Amino acid sequence: MKRSVSVIGLTVNGVRHEVAVEPRRLLVDCLRDDLGLTGTHIGCEHGVCGTCTVLVDGESVRSCLMLAVQADGATVTTVEALASDGALHPLQQAFREAQGLQCGFCTPGMLMTTRALLNENPNPSDHEIRTAISGGICRCTGYKNIVAAVRWAAEHESATAGREA
Ligand code: FES
Ligand code: FES
Repeated sequence: MKRSVSVIGLTVNGVRHEVAVEPRRLLVDCLRDDLGLTGTHIGCEHGVCGTCTVLVDGESVRSCLMLAVQADGATVTTVEALASDGALHPLQQAFREAQGLQCGFCTPGMLMTTRALLNENPNPSDHEIRTAISGGICRCTGYKNIVAAVRWAAEHESATAGREA
């Protein structure tokens, strides 16, 4: 049986790509398998755990709930955009400093959720941080240190005023 395929164009972490995808292909599979960006994790594949979170045109999106064809023409930012030249991004540093991770499986989603939050609200309260990360499930750290990490990142970024990614 002949399979229908569409060619989509999207910009991921500043690089333009054209990818042939089937209509049912998920954005997360396109990122991981077609573009080799495996920093975005797949957990539940049902929009529950949040580990697949990326930014699409600046908005946080669960990439297991979005079809790749829906990202045609979009700008996508994944966790790979954070570190540069081997140096951790302040958000990543924050999670290390505040011990906001253990196994790290949820961390890509937590980082991108934090990126979206701080882009919109550079000085969130603990309640706002908890609300923002409430769509992400962490099975090992507990949320106290993740909240502390987001606060650390907010304080660091407001001190340096650098929110480039
Ligand atoms: S893998 Fe997308 S929300 Fe869990
Ligand atoms: S650090 Fe292990 S699931 Fe969050």
